[in-house]
Amino acid sequence: MHIPNALISLLPLGLLAVAVRLPAPSGPYNVGFTQHIFNHSTPNDPTPGPGTSYLTSIFYPTRSSLAPNTSVPYFDPTSAAIWGEVFNILPADLESLETTLQWQAPLLSAKDDVERVKDRPTLVFSPGGGMNAAYFTSLLSDLASQGYTVLALDHPGEAPYLPLPYGNPGVVGWDIYMPYSDALIVEIYQFRRADMLHLLGPSGFPALVETYGAYFNTEAYGAFGHSIGGATATGAMDRNRNIIAGFNIDGGLFGDSVNASMHGRPYFMTMNPNHLAQDADSWPAFATRYYNESKTAPGWLDWTTVEGSAHLAFSDVALWVELLPQIPNTTAQVDLGNVTGTRMDSLLKSYAGAFWEFVRGGEYDGKLLDGEVEEWPEVVFNARVRSNGTQGY
Ligand SMILES: *[C@@H]1O[C@H](CO)[C@@H](O)[C@H](O)[C@H]1NC(C)=O
Ligand SMILES: *[C@@H]1O[C@H](CO)[C@@H](O)[C@H](O)[C@H]1NC(C)=O
Ligand SMILES: *[C@@H]1O[C@H](CO)[C@@H](O)[C@H](O)[C@H]1NC(C)=O
Ligand SMILES: *[C@@H]1O[C@H](CO)[C@@H](O)[C@H](O)[C@H]1NC(C)=O
Ligand SMILES: *[C@@H]1O[C@H](CO)[C@@H](O)[C@H](O)[C@H]1NC(C)=O
Ligand SMILES: *[C@@H]1O[C@H](CO)[C@@H](O)[C@H](O)[C@H]1NC(C)=O
Ligand SMILES: *[C@@H]1O[C@H](CO)[C@@H](O)[C@H](O)[C@H]1NC(C)=O
Repeated sequence: MHIPNALISLLPLGLLAVAVRLPAPSGPYNVGFTQHIFNHSTPNDPTPGPGTSYLTSIFYPTRSSLAPNTSVPYFDPTSAAIWGEVFNILPADLESLETTLQWQAPLLSAKDDVERVKDRPTLVFSPGGGMNAAYFTSLLSDLASQGYTVLALDHPGEAPYLPLPYGNPGVVGWDIYMPYSDALIVEIYQFRRADMLHLLGPSGFPALVETYGAYFNTEAYGAFGHSIGGATATGAMDRNRNIIAGFNIDGGLFGDSVNASMHGRPYFMTMNPNHLAQDADSWPAFATRYYNESKTAPGWLDWTTVEGSAHLAFSDVALWVELLPQIPNTTAQVDLGNVTGTRMDSLLKSYAGAFWEFVRGGEYDGKLLDGEVEEWPEVVFNARVRSNGTQGY
């Protein structure tokens, strides 16, 4: 290939990383993206962060087409250096990841577009412990492309580094290798739950929406999260009945989320095959209690295992490892099981998509939600609760 000299001089020496794009979102819309810093105090914040705010990233459907000058970068250089070292990926390669997100792209304006999306629950997401919400961009973008508004939370100081928008300095957090004690995990759960409840409360997202006069739904929410984010979503559901359903991605229940009452709200849980080795009690107890409650009230619960997966395979990390080269003669220091990032990515998008479609009152994909299917043989069902009593636990 002949590259004109003028172009060669533009390439940083030794950093010939070719842009790699995440799998394209599957829905009919393109994806807009913005961020907002909410003031909210965390008394005695255990993290090195200031404890005065949290960051919300907002993914939403748009008809605007992706242009290079509006695409939001995936990694900032500081985070790329930190995470690259952990997974033996060159920071330049991590920085080469491209999203399909468009910074502050116009909202939908056509009347039928707005009609199609405005009554969907707004989905609120909490990432895995120590991880930035950005590392779930693929799933979050996909849901936005289906028509959902998705709010993803970051608590400054928890992740090793959190870049902040609008010229604010990024926040350096806990060291990436710092072990979490059981007591600290409960504290993390508590400040995250408080952040999520604030976001859904009157001075959070609803106030922001009112300021901008946007059509986003501030009446009905769905909560979901990975790892400790699953507990966050569940604990928030216990306290806020505007959350109409929950989706727990491989997250043990901590603190008082172990006793959260769902009042029959749909709840989907999916885990890696070793989940119960680390968390023997919280999921079986939760499912049993849910089943008990559903005998006298409505109820809908799915509990699945993804055979062959591991905890971080339920995040974009599995995509980084699959799509980007390893530093020569190293292997990724991460257990992803025997699954690949791209398959896990489309698996999770399929099940989360089917679940939220059912929750919003769209089509019920009984094929996917009611049991094993040929297309996804690695997804096995451990329990199902249905209020009409036709399928037991
Ligand atoms: C948050 O607080 C800072 C200063 O304490 C203030 O400048 C900023 O406007 C506040 N942000 C919002 C969204 O209220
Ligand atoms: C992006 O590029 C397009 C042309 O490709 C131009 O019309 C538009 O103004 C640019 N937007 C920004 C934010 O620079
Ligand atoms: C959960 O409920 C049980 C039974 O009421 C109680 O013993 C336990 O202390 C509760 N756990 C938490 C963390 O609130
Ligand atoms: C479920 O109900 C059974 C009997 O109705 C009871 O023995 C058991 O303690 C209950 N379990 C939970 C977790 O609520
Ligand atoms: C992947 O691991 C699961 C067990 O976790 C096993 O059932 C499956 O056969 C494995 N698949 C391959 C292709 O090795
Ligand atoms: C990688 O390992 C191979 C075989 O052990 C060796 O020949 C090669 O020089 C190594 N490359 C680097 C970059 O260390
Ligand atoms: C019970 O609910 C399931 C799932 O919602 C549905 O597939 C099934 O047809 C229902 N059965 C009856 C008898 O209503």
